[in-house]
Amino acid sequence: TWQMSNFLEMSIEQIQAQVGDGRVICGLSGGVDSSVAAALLHRAIGPRLTCVFVDNGLLRKGERAFVEATFRDHFDIDLRVIDAGAQFLADLEGVLDPQEKRRRIGHRFIKVFKSASEEIEDVGFLAQGTLYPDVIESGQGHSGQAANIKLHHNVGGLPEQLGFDLVEPFRQLFKDEVRQLGSLLGLPETMVWRHPFPGPGLAVRCLGEVREDQLAILREADEILIEEIVANNLYRQTAQVFAVLLPVRAVGVMGDGRTHEQVIAIRAVESQDFMTADWARIPFDVLATISNRVINEVRGVNRVVYDISSKPPATIEWE
Ligand code: XMP
Repeated sequence: TWQMSNFLEMSIEQIQAQVGDGRVICGLSGGVDSSVAAALLHRAIGPRLTCVFVDNGLLRKGERAFVEATFRDHFDIDLRVIDAGAQFLADLEGVLDPQEKRRRIGHRFIKVFKSASEEIEDVGFLAQGTLYPDVIESGQGHSGQAANIKLHHNVGGLPEQLGFDLVEPFRQLFKDEVRQLGSLLGLPETMVWRHPFPGPGLAVRCLGEVREDQLAILREADEILIEEIVANNLYRQTAQVFAVLLPVRAVGVMGDGRTHEQVIAIRAVESQDFMTADWARIPFDVLATISNRVINEVRGVNRVVYDISSKPPATIEWE
C-alpha cells in the first residue's frame, strides 16, 4: 500500500498547511470514517486536535467504552464525551415516524455538538470523515439522486451552523482506502473493519417508540448476534449485521405457561456500496445458535426471525 503511505504524507502536509497553528474539533461517531479522520488529524497536529463524542443514549453495548479506550487511552487524544442520552430520549418520546426520529436526533445532535464546541477555546476548524460517495450522495457532486432517501446528518447542516472551516481529508477516497489508511495509522483492526452504524443509532432499529426498556432489549440481542457472527468468522464477509426490535408481541410457551413477548429480526447483508445489497446466506447452524441464545438470554424476547429481503426494494435498515 505504497499509495496509501504517499497519501498519508501528502495529506498530513495539506492539513498542516490548511490549519496552520489553529485548533481543530472532530466529532467522533465510533465509526470508521471519523475514527480514521481523528487518527490522521492527531498525527498531523497532535494536541491541537480535540475530539467530541456524543453519547446520545442510542449506542450499542460497550460502544462508548470502546471509543474511550481507543482514543483517550491508546492515542492519548483530548477526547470529550458528552452525556446527552436523556435529552435525545426526551426528544424521541412518543415519536413513531422514522424520518421524524432522524430529524429530532439530527437537531439535538447539532445543539449538543455546538455547545460542546463552544467550550473549547479558539477552535477554527471542523474535521469530518466525508468520503467521496458521501459527497456524491449528498448532492454536492454531479448525481444527487440518492440525497433524499435518508437524511444523512454527517453531511450538510452541521458545518454551516458552527461556522468553522472544514477539514475533509477523505473527500476523494473510497471506504476501502480509508480502512487502509486507518491500519497505517495504527487503529485497531476491530475499529478499521467495523460495519457502518447509522447516525441515529439504535433509534432506527428500535421500531416504533424508542424507550430505554426497548433499547436495553435491543442492545442485548445485538451484542449476542455480533458475538456469534465474529465467532463464526462471518464479520468480515458481511457488510452489515444487526438486530432489529419489532414492536409486536408474539405468543410462545415456557413450561406450562404462555408467553407474550417481542420479536427480534436479524438483518445481515452483503454489499459493495450500500446502494444495493443482498441478504447474507448465514449458515443455518449459526442462525440456530443466535436464535437459541437470544431467546434464552434476552428477557422479553421469545421469537427470532431472519430478514431475507434484498435492497432494492427493501432498504438495509428497517426504518
Ligand atoms: P439504507 O437503510 O438506506 O441504508 O439501505 C444504507 C446505508 O446507510 C446507513 N444509514 C444511515 N446512516 N444516517 C446515517 O449516518 C442515517 O440516517 C442512515 N440511514 C441509513 C445504513 O446503516 C446503511 O449502511
